[in-house]
Amino acid sequence: MAIKKMPPKAQVYRVVERTPSVREFLEIRKAVGWGTGKPGPWKKAMRNSLYSVCVLSAGKVIGTARVVGDESMCFYIQDVIVMPEHQKRGVGLKMMKSVMKYMKKKAGTGATVGLMSVKGKEGFYKKFGFWKRPNRKFGYGMMQFWKKS
Ligand SMILES: CC(C)(COP(=O)(O)OP(=O)(O)OC[C@H]1O[C@@H](n2cnc3c(N)ncnc32)[C@H](O)[C@@H]1OP(=O)(O)O)[C@@H](O)C(=O)NCCC(=O)NCCS
Repeated sequence: MAIKKMPPKAQVYRVVERTPSVREFLEIRKAVGWGTGKPGPWKKAMRNSLYSVCVLSAGKVIGTARVVGDESMCFYIQDVIVMPEHQKRGVGLKMMKSVMKYMKKKAGTGATVGLMSVKGKEGFYKKFGFWKRPNRKFGYGMMQFWKKS
């Protein structure tokens, strides 16, 4: 008798507006191949974020995003990460929706909301009104990875 193939069980994702623990956060960074470093600086970073959102699957944090800034006219979206096995299932979209809801509450007219897209992920952020630079009017966004001396 032929065994009937069952479709994969639909994942239930729960969006929770909270800061991930350093352990949860570093686990997700590690899963996508990003550097982790020592936990101390991350502890402070998590604590000082203006807003964080986590997505849980079966009680485990599998995605997170956070916002830093002055809570009025300048915001920066950082560490938008979904564990590889949960990517392309709408989790990133859910997190960005929460981030933008926060922005609607807090950002004043004319506020700058920035982020640095990983190469190739620009299209994901375009959905939320972000545009690329340089363009005809604006120069390059610039940055450096700080090396503590
Ligand atoms: C970027 C990331 C957060 C997206 O999360 P995700 O859960 O896979 O994204 P979703 O499944 O919610 O996709 C949301 C939508 O964006 C689209 N999308 C995803 N990546 C895209 C891309 N590179 N270009 C255009 N659209 C893209 C999806 O097709 C989907 O569109 P739809 O709603 O019309 O189907 C995830 O891929 C990730 O964690 N990557 C590794 C870490 C990383 O690079 N983070 C970004 C830092 S800037």
